[in-house]
Amino acid sequence: MKGYHAFHDPAIEGVAFSSEDIADLVTRLGAEITDDYRGRDLALVTVLRGGFIFLADLSRAIDLPLTLDFMAISAYGGGGVAVRITKDLDDPIVGRDVLVVEDIIDTGLTLNYLLGVLRQRKPASLAVCTLFDKDVRRLADLPIEYVGARIPDRFVVGYGMDLGGRYRNLPFLARLRDEVMG
Ligand code: IMP
Ligand code: MG
Repeated sequence: MKGYHAFHDPAIEGVAFSSEDIADLVTRLGAEITDDYRGRDLALVTVLRGGFIFLADLSRAIDLPLTLDFMAISAYGGGGVAVRITKDLDDPIVGRDVLVVEDIIDTGLTLNYLLGVLRQRKPASLAVCTLFDKDVRRLADLPIEYVGARIPDRFVVGYGMDLGGRYRNLPFLARLRDEVMG
């Protein structure tokens, strides 16, 4: 069997951010977070599944003691307004400096719900770091302290992000052809 080569996948139009581009964004974000959280009690919280690759790289770009924890949520109903926690954090966050790590923020409705849930648990602070931000689509007003890059309103996959569960393992961020999206 011939190997799978993402560049030959007809669904993929091109590379939006190469793995080198992404590495530069991650290094910059990691340095900023390292400066800002020195002497604090940093707890990184990531939303599965999309955030796992970014978390793996970002956490290693932060030169501080920290903990990692995961949540999973599923959006249901039209527009993703209704959200349900399908896997909660394993550890308490009361009194800790929580930084939510997201792959991409679109309307912001998912994150808005999540921040509401986390805030009730009384962390010492609550902030957000996203690798990519489609801010033109934002519906909820969110405090996003760290943004890797703003991107246009096009569907992207790779580096953790999927279409129907696939493409998460691409080491770069790819644009899909419009025909694929229907
Ligand atoms: P929001 O609630 O509209 O901000 O949706 C955010 C979530 O939708 C992200 O965490 C992703 O899981 C998913 N998402 C939004 N845009 C894209 C995209 O272009 N590609 C892959 N997933 C996306
Ligand atoms: Mg996500």
